[in-house]
Amino acid sequence: MMISCQKDLGTTEQAVNQTAISDATITRYLLFIPPTITTSNFTLTTSPGTHDLGGGAFTNVWQYNGSMPGPTIVAKKGDVISAIYKNNLPEPSIIHWHGMLVSHANDGQPSQVIPTGSTYSYNFPIINRAALNWYHPHPHMVIGEQVYNGLAGAFIIRDAEEAALNLPSGKYEVPLVIRDASIDQYGNLIYKPTGGGFFGKLPLVNGTKAPYLKVDRAVYRFRVLIGSTSRIFNLALSNGAPFILIGNDGGLLPSSSNQTTIEVSPAERLDVLVDFRQLAGGTKVMLKDLNSGWDLLQFRVSSTSVAYSGPLTTSSSIQQLTNPVTTRFFSFDGMSKINGKVYDVNRIDFRVPFGRTELWQFKTNGNGPHPVHVHGASFQVVSRTGGRGKVYPWEAGWKDVVMVNDFETVSVLIRFDSYRGVYLLHCHKLEHEDNGMMANFEVY
Ligand code: C2O
Ligand code: CU
Repeated sequence: MMISCQKDLGTTEQAVNQTAISDATITRYLLFIPPTITTSNFTLTTSPGTHDLGGGAFTNVWQYNGSMPGPTIVAKKGDVISAIYKNNLPEPSIIHWHGMLVSHANDGQPSQVIPTGSTYSYNFPIINRAALNWYHPHPHMVIGEQVYNGLAGAFIIRDAEEAALNLPSGKYEVPLVIRDASIDQYGNLIYKPTGGGFFGKLPLVNGTKAPYLKVDRAVYRFRVLIGSTSRIFNLALSNGAPFILIGNDGGLLPSSSNQTTIEVSPAERLDVLVDFRQLAGGTKVMLKDLNSGWDLLQFRVSSTSVAYSGPLTTSSSIQQLTNPVTTRFFSFDGMSKINGKVYDVNRIDFRVPFGRTELWQFKTNGNGPHPVHVHGASFQVVSRTGGRGKVYPWEAGWKDVVMVNDFETVSVLIRFDSYRGVYLLHCHKLEHEDNGMMANFEVY
């Protein structure tokens, strides 16, 4: 299947970068919105293909079902997913459903990679609450390359609690997969990581460079996934307007809040509302990354006003984990080790009892930030000491990735009450993960 390419040829305009002094022009391209999969029986095939980054500049990439990012899967809590993965890449791969509570056999771990030309069958009920999760490959030592080459897609879960809120939907709910990339003179992606990571020269949102999105004078819900291998993004809107932060990795937050900047690392997710209703038609607002100074996505406000009857604040009651029975320490050492050890697919590093709350402490003495991720359960961040010294509003509720900067100790409460079996703890800076900053553990 060929990818669906942008028909919009893009338009040239004055750059709306307040820091730019020159009147340089930039050509912007319509933001790509990946196709959606709404059935619970589907096949995802990985294969090499071509992708239009914008303006018909075709780039060699790797894709799920011919799309980069991959199709957005939309499913409901309680659905039973029956999926076939077919690997047409020139190397082994496997799909991991990041954030999903699934059994070991469905988790897509490095031990489960399949060779070129073969298939893997998944079958699992959706037991997570409503959230934006995602899927990506998980072969050891080449996960960075495979994700970088284009293999990542959003996996949206709905549930009754979320549906009752009547949040923006249809074209007013937009997935934004934000990442960086470098492109050679022929327009192809270049991936030359070092042990310390990879930092591309330009941003891509949903695989589009210099994208714009026409928005009505309406309230929008943006489902943000940081799909970079290493880069941390500090998101802000150019007009100083806040994001109404309603959710993160594990769904709705205990309470929403207005945030003018939100700093997030690879694999973290955000659920934000943006209210464009008071802006005049013709206004342009830029989604920016304050760390790099990049313009990520331009919103072009139309003159169409759309009424909104949903909420501008939300709350959700989340059961707080308490009284941990065990405390475990994990030191993220150098660029390749956890507690002094490099990952070995055949070694189980520790065993965790099923159904018991534990306190896990993640710390590092350097080479951060390390976005620490756990398979098999979500966790609750209780404290961060050293470094930034606080827990941010977007780290409330349920998380499955937490950023650990140099000299920080981040404490989380976690309880594995979904499945027994072998799961993973790792750094989601994919170059660190590929170096071996990963550990197997067994829930028993
Ligand atoms: Cu997003 Cu173990 O991964
Ligand atoms: Cu790391």
